Amino acid sequence: MTGFQWVLASALGFLIALVWVRRVLRRLVVWIKRLRSGELIPAPVPLWSFFWPVANEAAKMGKDLYEARRIAEQEAHLRWKGQSRWTPERLKNHVQVLLHGRPFVLIANREPYTHVRDGGKIRCIMPASGLVTAVEPILRACGGTWVATASGDADRETADAHGRLAVPPDDPAYTLRRLWLTEEEEEGYYYGFSNEGLWPLCHIAHTRPIFRIEDWQQYKKVNQKFARATLDELAGTKNPFVLIQDYHYALLPKMIRDERPDARIALFWHIPWTSPEAFAICPWAREILQGMLGADLMGFHIQSHCNNFLETAERLLEARIDWDQFAVNRSGSKTVVKPFPISIAESTLRGRGEEQTPASAREEVFKQLGMNVQWMGVGVDRIDYTKGIAERFRAIERFLEKYPEFQRKFSFVELGAPSRTGIKRYNDLGQELQDEADRINARFQKSGWKPIIFLKDQHSQQTITRFYKAANICLVTSLHDGMNLVAKEFVATRTDRQGVLILSRFAGASQELRDALLVNPYDVDEGAEAIYRSLTMTPEEQSSRMSRMHTILEEHNVYRWAADIMTELNRIHPDDSF
Ligand code: G6P
Repeated sequence: MTGFQWVLASALGFLIALVWVRRVLRRLVVWIKRLRSGELIPAPVPLWSFFWPVANEAAKMGKDLYEARRIAEQEAHLRWKGQSRWTPERLKNHVQVLLHGRPFVLIANREPYTHVRDGGKIRCIMPASGLVTAVEPILRACGGTWVATASGDADRETADAHGRLAVPPDDPAYTLRRLWLTEEEEEGYYYGFSNEGLWPLCHIAHTRPIFRIEDWQQYKKVNQKFARATLDELAGTKNPFVLIQDYHYALLPKMIRDERPDARIALFWHIPWTSPEAFAICPWAREILQGMLGADLMGFHIQSHCNNFLETAERLLEARIDWDQFAVNRSGSKTVVKPFPISIAESTLRGRGEEQTPASAREEVFKQLGMNVQWMGVGVDRIDYTKGIAERFRAIERFLEKYPEFQRKFSFVELGAPSRTGIKRYNDLGQELQDEADRINARFQKSGWKPIIFLKDQHSQQTITRFYKAANICLVTSLHDGMNLVAKEFVATRTDRQGVLILSRFAGASQELRDALLVNPYDVDEGAEAIYRSLTMTPEEQSSRMSRMHTILEEHNVYRWAADIMTELNRIHPDDSF
């Protein structure tokens, strides 16, 4: 080889080496960038490579970085935990650490955002629902998917071809997946089996449940529809978290579990659970229990609902109950059953309450209703036979009978929101309550005064807050209630620490709000005495009772409820390999 050829060969060799080195370096740079962003992936060079020592050191650094990041996250998490108050930010941090990038899907019948046509425009509304208020913060925190029934007349055109849209519309944080039901499905699943079957079955309110085979068929069909949509959302993911809400989806946990054994599934039952004898009258009781037991975690508001559920599973399915751990063990699977008392976003309500003083609220309400009394009571409910509204009216009647000095001086305002009016029992109830109010009014009313003012409408949160502030007493007299958030809202709104809450012993809220005057709503005399006692209570006693209830609500707010469920769900899954 000539000298020239040597130079040429070396130059070519050098060039090839340069291209190779550059290519490897480029790959290494991409890899290091991915390490930095937290991905632990093997180095893109073989062991014998010239670059292996560098890659090896970088891999170690990547691992250290990853560990440091995890420790920092955990420390931040512990710092959050050290605080006793739960806030949306704290929940967000907590849930992010728990999920650690794993997907999250929530299923609830009510959608959090409805699009409706209003004149020529489309408006987006957030339905006034306790459930929506309670679970929305979780989705905002961890950005998963909420699967729900479409309910607005402009829902279709505001979602994509799969029914998906990013919400909240002005600051997207998670995906809403809408499902459309046929009229027949809605009739059978929602009005029929959910609300004429399961609702009266679970509430001891002496309204007979109606079980129709056609409703049951539709209920199963809609549960399947939701299961398919949920599985769709989970496709291609590992170890997802699935949080199912309420009695509309008793069959869903098993349907999902059968397809996705790696999922962690919780079902939260927002209404009471009755005794095994009462539940057994449902012709499909066993199938319902089997469906529910597909969940790893079953949540109720209070311990006695959990106990009733465990006894029902023991009797009807002959399942083995672990009473130490409150768990149902069946053919290799385990469902933990625990109470999680739901609550409100106390700080938001406190904020709303501060916008107006009780005096100005009172002035506005009295002017609006042409009222001129010394004391005012308020009730806020969906018009539902479980709420004990007629019993409440009768307690007022008895109070005015026993203490005539309060006639002309006390009026009660019922803000009743028509609900489930597609069901005859609910439709009739509106009229029955109106007749009862008219009867009592006719008995006592004098010029310019009547004891009961019944306002049937969908009242805005702002109106309700105004009435809470203006009232001396709030009456919550449910015959049976999972929790009842009106009781908690009234307390949270009263930042002046005045006012008295009269609360049914049969509402879940009575377990926490022990400073309310607790009554048996069926006992008209007890109700009348409680009204008398609250209207004659000293401001000091009102203040100390209210203050104690405030502390409870500050510590046990809805963010804590959500965090507790997610923590428990994360803790109990036995064979998650993550
Ligand atoms: C009540 C119950 C919830 C239930 C909701 C449904 O608030 O406590 O458990 O989800 O009603 O109401 P809806 O108006 O959607 O039938």
